[in-house]
Amino acid sequence: MEQPDVDLDESDAFYIETDLDGIITYVNDTFVKMSGFSRNELIGENLNIVHHPYMPQWAFEDLWKTVKGGHPWQGIIKNRTKSSAQYWVRATVSPVMRSGQVVGYLSLWQKPSRLEISEAEKLYRMAEAPRPPFSIQRWFSNLNLQTKLQIMIQPALLIVGVLATFRLPDLAGCEFGTSYQFVNHSCT
Ligand SMILES: Cc1cc2nc3c(=O)[nH]c(=O)nc-3n(C[C@H](O)[C@H](O)[C@H](O)COP(=O)(O)O)c2cc1C
Repeated sequence: MEQPDVDLDESDAFYIETDLDGIITYVNDTFVKMSGFSRNELIGENLNIVHHPYMPQWAFEDLWKTVKGGHPWQGIIKNRTKSSAQYWVRATVSPVMRSGQVVGYLSLWQKPSRLEISEAEKLYRMAEAPRPPFSIQRWFSNLNLQTKLQIMIQPALLIVGVLATFRLPDLAGCEFGTSYQFVNHSCT
């Protein structure tokens, strides 16, 4: 496990509230102190201000999908401070409800265990494992139906076109360079 640059305290609890677009509306003092940003720099900013490029995009797609569906989300996230020092958090993200409506999100961060971090590292590393070698079969099965039909029909049309241009006049006894006219059975 790579050592984080910022070692959080077991007793630390970081609270961040955002609106429905992930714009920060509230931060507690513990978070302000650790993040390196001033409160003014944080309020009104997107929470991606703490985003670390190590994190795969799918983790946040999962987070957004879950909380937009009105459900809580928990995950181990690597974030960074204003000076780009990295730290891991166990983030528990919950929708904030008012009169039965989701009006924003609350994120509670705590220090994760070493085991949680190494499991998260494994998961993120696995997800970026090299793709299997290119396979025509897989490529074809991923195409949509219209493209599949085009790929299957176009060579047949090409063959019919070539036959109609060169082979049919020949079979009908037409001279090279003329084409056979089906309508009046002549070569022109
Ligand atoms: C409540 C809440 C908490 C979030 N927590 C984090 C977080 O701790 N770290 C992070 O990088 N993104 C977090 N995000 C996701 C960011 O909004 C953003 O989608 C992510 O950083 C990816 O940045 P990008 O959309 O600019 O690529 C959170 C979003 C919400 C709604």
